[in-house]
Amino acid sequence: MSMGGTPMQQVYARRRSQHWIDRLYRLLQPPLPLLENRREPRDFPLGRWNLYIGGAGCALSGYVNLDLFALPGVDVVGDAEQLPFRSGTFERVECDAVLEHVRCPEQVMREITRVLTREGYAHIVTPFCHPFHEYPRDYRRFTLDGLKQLAGDGLEVVAEGWRTGPTATVLIFILEYVKIWLPWRAWRVIVHMALGWLLFPFRYLDLIFFRARSVGRIGNHCYLWLRKR
Ligand SMILES: C[S@@+](CC[C@H](N)C(=O)[O-])C[C@H]1O[C@@H](n2cnc3c(N)ncnc32)[C@H](O)[C@@H]1O
Repeated sequence: MSMGGTPMQQVYARRRSQHWIDRLYRLLQPPLPLLENRREPRDFPLGRWNLYIGGAGCALSGYVNLDLFALPGVDVVGDAEQLPFRSGTFERVECDAVLEHVRCPEQVMREITRVLTREGYAHIVTPFCHPFHEYPRDYRRFTLDGLKQLAGDGLEVVAEGWRTGPTATVLIFILEYVKIWLPWRAWRVIVHMALGWLLFPFRYLDLIFFRARSVGRIGNHCYLWLRKR
């Protein structure tokens, strides 16, 4: 089914489309080839005002949802490099899978630090070994050391680790590798479905790797929890 608008609008429109072919596509989707690490803390306190950066298409209660695009779920259209809020406004800032898409992650971290209240929390999640994906651009990848360096002196690290592990990386890359051989979208969709169903049970191997020190060598996404000093 053809959809108008920018590529970003098309991605989000397809996710919500009620056209039978899109509904069938969603029904046949295999489970994700990744397992999230249950040890990643999620329960740092929400405050009166909390900011979610890059939540287009998500209904997020308790957050002000800021994104570059006026898509469903977005409360404020803006750029994370120049947050349109006063300093010290938010008790918590979520920045999940966004820093790889911004031109200047150092500037975004400065802005997150600025808008946080003293002792407010920031939760940063970024890919390390992950395929190219444009939202609307894709500039870089991060290690935990790189993220900590970005955080600078204004933020102290209170928790760190891997959200998704080495098996997620391998399975996602196998799926992507096979698809780059296929010239037509219809083929890619069919192979993605078939291979996705075949491969997803291997994701449970990451339950072993999450406990290993070597998880970060080819981990998929890493996280930091930071507190403003
Ligand atoms: C990969 S999506 C992450 C979505 C969500 N956090 C998740 O994990 O499902 C990245 C989002 O960040 C937004 N984004 C990219 N650059 C941005 C910027 N400079 N300022 C604000 N949002 C941005 C994109 O529009 C997109 O909605």
